[in-house]
Amino acid sequence: MARNKTSKAWMQEHVNDPYVRKAQAEGMRSRAAYKLQQLAERDKLLKPGMTVVDLGAAPGGWSQVAGRAAGATGRVVAVDLLEMTPVAGVTFIQGDFGEDAVLAAVEQTIGGDGVDLVLSDMAPNISGVASVDQARSVGLAELALDFAVNHLKPQGNFLVKVFQGSGFEALVADIRSKFVQVMIRKPEASRSRSSEVYIVAKGLKVRR
Ligand SMILES: C[S@@+](CC[C@H](N)C(=O)[O-])C[C@H]1O[C@@H](n2cnc3c(N)ncnc32)[C@H](O)[C@@H]1O
Repeated sequence: MARNKTSKAWMQEHVNDPYVRKAQAEGMRSRAAYKLQQLAERDKLLKPGMTVVDLGAAPGGWSQVAGRAAGATGRVVAVDLLEMTPVAGVTFIQGDFGEDAVLAAVEQTIGGDGVDLVLSDMAPNISGVASVDQARSVGLAELALDFAVNHLKPQGNFLVKVFQGSGFEALVADIRSKFVQVMIRKPEASRSRSSEVYIVAKGLKVRR
C-alpha cells in the first residue's frame, strides 16, 4: 500500500516535472539532456568538430546534445550497458565500460587522434544500501577519469557525475592534480534532493 502511494507520488512528480515536459516537447531522449546543455553552456564544453566520448549514454539525451554540437565535422562515441536506439551521427558501443573488450572497442573507434571531451553520466543501479551505491558511483567516476587521462588530448576536458559522500573529496583531489581548472557544478536540471553533482575539469595537464 505504502509502496503504491510512493510510486503514484513519483509518477505525479515525473509528469509535472518541467524538464520531463520539455524533453517530450523537444524530442529529447531524457530530462538529463538539459543537465548537459546547462553544464556545457556555462563552461563552454562543446564545440563543432570535437571528438567526444559519452560514457553511460542510454537512453541518449547527452548523445543528442553532444552530437548536435559536434556537428558533421565532429564525432561522438557513446557507451552503455543497456541498448540504445541509434542517435544520428553517434557511434554506439554496448557493454560494461569496466571490461577490457569494451575499452578496446572504444579505442579502436576513436583511433589514435585523441579525444577533446570525455563525458560520464554513468550511475550504478541503486541497491538502496547507501554505502554500496556511494562506493559504486565513485568507482565509475574513477573508471571514467582513468580513461580521460589516458585518451584526452593535452588541454582536453572532462565532465563526470558522482554522488557526494565517502570518497568524493579524494576523487576531486585526484582530478585537481590532473587538470588545470576544476569546478563542482549542480545544474538546475539536477533535482535538488539528489546527491549527484557534476565535476567539470578543464585542461588536462598530465598524461601518464
Ligand atoms: C543516468 S543514466 C545516463 C543518462 C544519459 N546521460 C542520458 O542523457 O540519456 C546512467 C547510465 O549509466 C549506465 N552505466 C552504469 N554503469 C555502467 C558501466 N559499467 N558501463 C557502461 N554503462 C554504465 C547505465 O546503464 C545507465 O544507462
